[in-house]
Amino acid sequence: MSDTRTSVLFVCLGNICRSPLAEGVFLHLAQQRGVNDRFDVDSCGTGGWHAGERPDPRSLAVAEKHGVSLPGHARKYAPGADNALDWLIPMDTSNRDDLIEGGAPRERVHLLRSFDPRLKDMPERSLDVPDPYYGAPGGFDEVYGMIHRACEGMLDALA
Ligand code: 4NP
Repeated sequence: MSDTRTSVLFVCLGNICRSPLAEGVFLHLAQQRGVNDRFDVDSCGTGGWHAGERPDPRSLAVAEKHGVSLPGHARKYAPGADNALDWLIPMDTSNRDDLIEGGAPRERVHLLRSFDPRLKDMPERSLDVPDPYYGAPGGFDEVYGMIHRACEGMLDALA
């Protein structure tokens, strides 16, 4: 990793639904803006049950619908290496608390939706990206929209 690149790690629970989508959408938008070479982007889960798996088929489907590819396989959060990254971006407050408990520096941990300008004055509890894993299929479209708006805001803030 070169010093000039900013490392971004998106974090959820299983690393098969929300954080792979955030990783893919962020990269896609960064490519559209011509700034993708400024970032090293990855995702992980605080739980390891799905380690090694490709994203959930419902995440793959909603991503494909928007022309976004999801390149990775699930992996578990590794505090030793991951806490050294520049930006740690949890999908919800529970993921955020797990990162802080794992020793992640608070000043580099930011809820994804805190970057959505429409939610600027919202209380923290309304910033969660809800876990769509056990929900209805439409949940993935809703989550995609939340992630897309927040990643645009993140790029406005970082790039
Ligand atoms: P994710 O969703 O955290 O958005 O990847 C989940 C996927 C799997 C499980 C929980 C959440 N699970 O319990 O297996």
